[in-house]
Amino acid sequence: MKNNKNSKVDICVVGAGYVGLVSGACLAELGHRVVCVDSDPAKIKMLEKGVMPIYEDGLESVVKKNVKAGRLHFANSVKAGMHHGGRRAEAVFIAVGTPPREDGSADLSAIEKVSEDVATNMTDYTVIVEKSTVPVATCDWINKTINRNNSRHLPFDVTSNPEFLREGTAVRDFLKPDRVVLGVSSPQAEALMRRIYKPMKGAELVVTSVKSAELIKHASNSFLSTKISFINAVATICEKTGANVEDVARGMGLDRRIGPAFLKAGIGFGGFCFPKDLEAFYWLSSQVGYDFEMLKTVKNVNERQKMWLVKKLEEELWNLEGKTIALLGLAFKPETDDMRFAPSIDIARELLKRGAKLRGYDPVSQENAKKIIKGIYFAADAYDCAKGADCVCLVTEWHEFAKLDQKKLLSLVKHPIMLDGRNLYDPAKMRSLGWTYMSVGRP
Ligand SMILES: NC(=O)c1ccc[n+]([C@@H]2O[C@H](COP(=O)([O-])OP(=O)(O)OC[C@H]3O[C@@H](n4cnc5c(N)ncnc54)[C@H](O)[C@@H]3O)[C@@H](O)[C@H]2O)c1
Repeated sequence: MKNNKNSKVDICVVGAGYVGLVSGACLAELGHRVVCVDSDPAKIKMLEKGVMPIYEDGLESVVKKNVKAGRLHFANSVKAGMHHGGRRAEAVFIAVGTPPREDGSADLSAIEKVSEDVATNMTDYTVIVEKSTVPVATCDWINKTINRNNSRHLPFDVTSNPEFLREGTAVRDFLKPDRVVLGVSSPQAEALMRRIYKPMKGAELVVTSVKSAELIKHASNSFLSTKISFINAVATICEKTGANVEDVARGMGLDRRIGPAFLKAGIGFGGFCFPKDLEAFYWLSSQVGYDFEMLKTVKNVNERQKMWLVKKLEEELWNLEGKTIALLGLAFKPETDDMRFAPSIDIARELLKRGAKLRGYDPVSQENAKKIIKGIYFAADAYDCAKGADCVCLVTEWHEFAKLDQKKLLSLVKHPIMLDGRNLYDPAKMRSLGWTYMSVGRP
């Protein structure tokens, strides 16, 4: 088995999902030799055929380029990923899912399984990297699990390297991050992690203890969620008083202590990160004896905000039974096919409960949406979606919706009512076209 003493690192990434596949491809792009492993054989088969299992802008070209260059490989098991082509992985990145449990805690069973697999397949010093989002002190559990299964007492270190990429801009975010957080427990682990990120010129490295790094991720996501819920609460006050949340957000955001990001009012956040990380952070806090009430409020504001469309629909259309509602956009955010915890799911469920007839359309996530949202008509495009609708609701602000021919859309609907849940359109322009137009927190 070859040993690697040069700047290139042999890496195994376990979990080839939104984070693992992007991380693996980008680490290969940085020059490392990477094997991406997934327990889903269909995913690996697709990747081996050059087909991307997820929709992510720019991913396919990075994957193909690095496969062609011999830096990126795929495997079905941790064993095959750690020992590939006669080489041994020096670092194993864990990028499996950490979904929420009923009580809000993170389900870490996939992390445990991978830790056991890594322990039984180590043949030399190995650095295990937590890439998945995990509660603080998960490193202790990984350490214990590996020790329990490490019959040859091989040396290892557990490090934390939380990922901050956003779906839709994941490749760019990985390669040009605001910062790279490295939680390390030994100089040897720190040296290897620095070697891995060395080719990422200009990236600010934040080197901390493992626990601090774990906490940085949960604290960051919870803070961003707080910002969103804060501006959504402000939007509600704007609606009740006639102020304009866009002007308020601009006036706030130009203050450098506040900053303009994440001050866009809308119908709330969803996705695989913010809702579950907020819950997990609240759960963790209560486990250590602190009632982090603020996080509970952030969640409650978000749950209320997701129902903004339902409330406005009832105000506008009275009884929803038998009314046709067009939902434009179903993914939890634009430029992704990800439907996990998308606000559209809760909105559709509430509208169906009230007897509304739903027509839905999403440019990319439609096939995933069909598996989750039942009992609605999935349209061929936005215009088909709007046909005969009593009201058109914009749920996800896809770029293509910004460019819709509004006159054509108007000619297709039953009533010219538009509820813009993402403040995508200009209110004055929409009204001049003939829409009865309402948006979040804007008069
Ligand atoms: N999606 C994001 O935008 C994002 C951003 C930052 C961090 N994260 C965090 O990264 C982690 C992964 O998220 P994701 O969105 O990539 O999830 P994902 O569901 O897209 O990917 C997880 C992959 O792990 C595979 N897997 C599960 N158990 C396995 C095992 N034992 N061995 C091998 N493969 C296994 C699954 O088949 C799946 O392909 C989560 O902790 C998430 O919170 C996600």
